[in-house]
Amino acid sequence: MLRSFLGAAALAVTAHAATIQSTPAQQCQSFANGLDLSEYNTTIINSTYFATDEYLFVVGTTNNAPFCQIFAQTVYGSPGTTVWAIWLPETSDYQGRFLAVGDGGFAGVIEYDSMLADFNLGLGFAVAGGDGGHSALTNDAGEGAPGVYLPFLHHQEEVLGWIHNGISIFTPPAKAITEARYNSIKHAYYDGCSTGGAQGFALAQFHPTLFQGIVASSPGNYYSHLALSFLWNDLATDTVGTYIPQTQLTAMTAAVVAKCGGPDGVINNPPACQFDVDSFACNATNLSLNNTACLTDAQLAAAKKIYAGPTNSNTGAQLYPGFAFGSESSWLLQEGLLADSFSIPILQNLVYDDLGYDASTFNFSSADVAAVNEKAGTLIDEIDPDIQQFHAGGGKLLSVQGWADPLNSPFWPIEHLQQVQAAFGGNVSSWFELFMSPGTGHCGSNDLYPDAPGTYATTAALVAWVEQGSTPAQIEASMPPSGANITRKLCPYPQIAEYTGTDPDDWTSYTCT
Ligand SMILES: *[C@@H]1O[C@H](CO)[C@@H](O)[C@H](O)[C@H]1NC(C)=O
Ligand SMILES: *[C@@H]1O[C@H](CO)[C@@H](O)[C@H](O)[C@H]1NC(C)=O
Ligand SMILES: *[C@@H]1O[C@H](CO)[C@@H](O)[C@H](O)[C@H]1NC(C)=O
Ligand SMILES: *[C@@H]1O[C@H](CO)[C@@H](O)[C@H](O)[C@H]1NC(C)=O
Ligand SMILES: *[C@@H]1O[C@H](CO)[C@@H](O)[C@H](O)[C@H]1NC(C)=O
Ligand SMILES: *[C@@H]1O[C@H](CO)[C@@H](O)[C@H](O)[C@H]1NC(C)=O
Ligand SMILES: *[C@@H]1O[C@H](CO)[C@@H](O)[C@H](O)[C@H]1NC(C)=O
Ligand SMILES: *[C@@H]1O[C@H](CO)[C@@H](O)[C@H](O)[C@H]1NC(C)=O
Repeated sequence: MLRSFLGAAALAVTAHAATIQSTPAQQCQSFANGLDLSEYNTTIINSTYFATDEYLFVVGTTNNAPFCQIFAQTVYGSPGTTVWAIWLPETSDYQGRFLAVGDGGFAGVIEYDSMLADFNLGLGFAVAGGDGGHSALTNDAGEGAPGVYLPFLHHQEEVLGWIHNGISIFTPPAKAITEARYNSIKHAYYDGCSTGGAQGFALAQFHPTLFQGIVASSPGNYYSHLALSFLWNDLATDTVGTYIPQTQLTAMTAAVVAKCGGPDGVINNPPACQFDVDSFACNATNLSLNNTACLTDAQLAAAKKIYAGPTNSNTGAQLYPGFAFGSESSWLLQEGLLADSFSIPILQNLVYDDLGYDASTFNFSSADVAAVNEKAGTLIDEIDPDIQQFHAGGGKLLSVQGWADPLNSPFWPIEHLQQVQAAFGGNVSSWFELFMSPGTGHCGSNDLYPDAPGTYATTAALVAWVEQGSTPAQIEASMPPSGANITRKLCPYPQIAEYTGTDPDDWTSYTCT
């Protein structure tokens, strides 16, 4: 059993004279040293106490309340060890809430910035985060590249330990620590984006009782086909003739925004934008770009492939959706980098187990796609729309997706929501909501887009939803890249924010309709 003698010891000490009272740092250490988590295959690594402002992760951002940080590691296989951290606030700050954060990309590191952002909300969370089942140190620094061996992708337990079980492995021991410290957890929350968004859907699908509230934003939950979309865009632009340089991408977004942007200079609802893509062509009758920024026919064909998304070369079936108007200025990422970092490593390490596999021979045929589905999809996707058990347990699921996300197609979370609606026979908004965010990127603002705020008040909305039953009718977005005082209103899909006020920079000027 888990035992903790801090409770009793600390009480006994404080009851006596102040001269023998232990410091918060000593209390943190003695609490950590007193933990026995062997039933969770978990050992404590170390502990550190941080007074207010002592924890400095990103310059300019520190902790706004004290906490005791405990590092632990949990062995979940052979191989298979995950390192994780938990931050315990003072008893007087704790409000009965446990929160875990997710990972990004191939994981391998703890997302301390996410932990700090949620800790600093003042909602009294004990906050935990893990490394996604493997260490970046032994996995190419957490980054993939063509021809590079990624050990974790060669052990099924570690592949599953990355997304499917990345959070569930450390959550029971992290909750046990939280209970030992405060005696109770009233509510458990999860907050993740990108790979962390995929981990959020994995919790709802495979571990439906661990969390009552889940934020799963810019979700990579159709990871295998997201990787195919990176490869599709890379192959569409990989010759000198089809490559589209930044100057042209920037001009494309400027032309689209000029036509479809709202009073705030951002495209509010890209699917409603009537823009003739052929006007990008250098010999178009109706030119939208000048002679230096226009697209050759080959570039125009490549751009159309990126807007369209990958399709099965035998059947024509859509494999993953394409990109929305307004995202063009960030497409350089799609012209090689994302395929090199994710798609090719996944094909070489996981699908074909051959570091010499030439990804340019992947032709999107039924056979190629079937190999990806079987070898990767079964282990890294979490797209089952029929998440009955999570729903039956009262779980709430909240997702934000930027319309100008240059990594994840904004149409994927919409499709997935529609699949969930179909599985549940209609409206699911009492427990699952998707907020589309105009002009923002992947898990935040898009720096190459007109100034749109990309910090979303999702965690607070989730807490109110779970604890007071108030379904979020809107979410505030703030903090654009420029630092200007601009806020926007995000609405639950399919609603959009209609400008009904007098100040386009103030979120209260918009109404969800
Ligand atoms: C701990 O590890 C043992 C041996 O590997 C395994 O049988 C057991 O299920 C693990 N316990 C937990 C809680 O994961
Ligand atoms: C505690 O352990 C973590 C995880 O191994 C490590 O990153 C950190 O540097 C350690 N801290 C101290 C103070 O030793
Ligand atoms: C062509 O358009 C680009 C992008 O809008 C602009 O930067 C450039 O100055 C224009 N060039 C000319 C010759 O007008
Ligand atoms: C541009 O011109 C080429 C040949 O001159 C023609 O094949 C192509 O269809 C034209 N493209 C557009 C968009 O008009
Ligand atoms: C020409 O292109 C512009 C910009 O895309 C568009 O606003 C306009 O409606 C187009 N005109 C015609 C006749 O297609
Ligand atoms: C895709 O490649 C396979 C061989 O790898 C070939 O048999 C098939 O015909 C190709 N399909 C298309 C549509 O090019
Ligand atoms: C779902 O129901 C809610 C509450 O009744 C309503 O506000 C919302 O518009 C509905 N959504 C859809 C997609 O019908
Ligand atoms: C930001 O703008 C809002 C609405 O216009 C205003 O109420 C608020 O005081 C402003 N905040 C700052 C820090 O200027």
